[in-house]
Amino acid sequence: MKEETALAEERTENKALTRRKFIVGAGALATGILAAGIAGCSTDTGTPGTDKPAAGGIAQGEAAELPWTYQKLDVELVRKRGYENYFKGGCDYAAASALLTTLKETAGGPWGSIPLGMFLYGAGGAYSWGTLCGALNGSLQVMSMAAAQHEKLGNELLGWYTEFPFPSDKHEAYCKVPKQITTVAKSPLCHVSVSTWANEAGAKINEKEKKDRCAKLSGDTAARAAELLNQALEGKIVLGYKVPDEYSHCMSCHQGPDSLLDNEQGKFNCAACHDDHTQKK
Ligand code: HEC
Ligand code: HEC
Repeated sequence: MKEETALAEERTENKALTRRKFIVGAGALATGILAAGIAGCSTDTGTPGTDKPAAGGIAQGEAAELPWTYQKLDVELVRKRGYENYFKGGCDYAAASALLTTLKETAGGPWGSIPLGMFLYGAGGAYSWGTLCGALNGSLQVMSMAAAQHEKLGNELLGWYTEFPFPSDKHEAYCKVPKQITTVAKSPLCHVSVSTWANEAGAKINEKEKKDRCAKLSGDTAARAAELLNQALEGKIVLGYKVPDEYSHCMSCHQGPDSLLDNEQGKFNCAACHDDHTQKK
């Protein structure tokens, strides 16, 4: 009997909870803020009709349209934070949090509302799968929220990354392992970037030399993102990336809707994986 009452009580509670969740869910769908629904998995979803934040810290209502207001960032501060934050959550977290915490201080607005934990998955090219470098991933995520021209800027960041000799020497004043050798990845992939460097340096993946290299790279990439965003804000974007000669001719026949064959997706160095069939051997 006692048990039954408890069960009945639980059922009523569940019903209330389900209804509440449904309302929240429907609201989230209508306003496009699924994140609020997820963060609000605890039942407190704030007070309807007011701006009182939910338990997850997110106010109900519509997310502001992108791009969010950007203000000029201190590039060297972003670089240093990228380096430091790498040791807290890996490369994606490092780059994204360096940009977001600096944006929160500099521009305010909704920039502080993004939970930094969402960038942890990107470490090691997504849970150590070695795909897209997390420093690129995190930087691109923030750039896509901060500038209408994010495609142009993002393409530049990716291209720049593939040709940049990482790590830069701009971390010497505070890094753990100074004077590291540099390598050019010719690829946006974590696997290629890390392996190329580790081979050259004679380093293992899980030792501190490699971690310091990736921490610096995270800072360098976030800093480059900030630099591009600053340029976009000032209306003078300086694009430096050009498809290298060794594979620019491949593109005109294989890559893009205007190419001869349009039978390939991807913009990074073909020569890393294919022979050049246009060259006589
Ligand atoms: C002048 C145009 C042209 C250029 C430049 C060119 N290709 Fe091709 N490529 C072709 C054609 C045509 C084929 C054959 C298409 C077919 O058989 O479907 C081909 C086939 C290929 C294939 C598929 C081979 C196969 O197994 O069928 C690869 C891979 C490829 N090209 C890579 C490259 C790369 C890498 C470069 C640059 C280093 C390059 N191509 C430059 C025209 C070009
Ligand atoms: C990371 C390695 C890698 C890179 C970089 C790469 N490819 Fe490929 N590509 C592959 C693999 C793997 C395949 C599938 C197996 C195959 O056909 O050789 C492929 C297939 C192709 C094909 C055949 C498509 C078809 O329909 O048969 C073409 C054409 C091609 N690549 C062109 C390019 C061009 C042009 C570039 C540079 C812009 C490039 N690839 C860069 C790995 C790569």
